[in-house]
Amino acid sequence: IRLALADGPLKGRHVIVTSGPTHEPIDPVRYIANRSSGAQGAAVAAALRDLGARVSFVTGPALVPPPQGVDVVAVETAQQMRDAVEAALPADAAVMAAAVADWRVLNGSERKLKKDGSGRPPALEMAENPDILSWISQAPQRPRLVVGFAAETDDVTANATAKRARKGCDWIVANDVSPGTGIMGGSENAVTLITAEGAEDWPRMAKGAVAARLAARIAETIG
Ligand code: CTP
Ligand code: CA
Repeated sequence: IRLALADGPLKGRHVIVTSGPTHEPIDPVRYIANRSSGAQGAAVAAALRDLGARVSFVTGPALVPPPQGVDVVAVETAQQMRDAVEAALPADAAVMAAAVADWRVLNGSERKLKKDGSGRPPALEMAENPDILSWISQAPQRPRLVVGFAAETDDVTANATAKRARKGCDWIVANDVSPGTGIMGGSENAVTLITAEGAEDWPRMAKGAVAARLAARIAETIG
């Protein structure tokens, strides 16, 4: 069943959200991936939905289920995620919360690789994946507001500010995922919002609260 869209400041607006990891196959039983539960992306999609937006939720294989009341497009690889985002355009805003694998395996195999008894592992050839955030930031159908995420372990604000400029997006939601913080895989997040105006440190709060605050800011900007 399709739930009716909520009434709210984002009614009539379309937002694309990417979420979760991507899986880059090595063979039918093995893959390369980033660590990502998909919790923050799912929370952002739910918060946008609650403000009345139509949400296209493009998700890799995440641990948490997608929220109800959004249009779910399930993908596996970065290339599939890019194509799904393109197919979902046009949109008023895009929030790229996915932990996209930076590389894919070029010499993957249709058959399971077997140990050959030599003790030597197979040599994997890798290629860089398309950068979905950079691509959408320059796309002819660029959404009015493009938001990226940046998980960093060092110099969070400086790295995220440089990343915002490099990628050409409007905002970066940066967080410190150093092991000591307990952010990675946890239920809370402590983020810094980087905009053209500078860096804003938000207090540590539940991922759902970060999502609600981000969705409210998006509504102020494109609502
Ligand atoms: N991103 C993307 N496509 C990629 C890689 C990243 O859309 N192929 C997006 C992520 O969803 C995130 C932002 O770019 O919103 C930043 O991701 P991050 O991995 O921090 O950036 P990278 O440019 O890959 O830099 P790094 O070398 O630090 O991993
Ligand atoms: Ca990366």
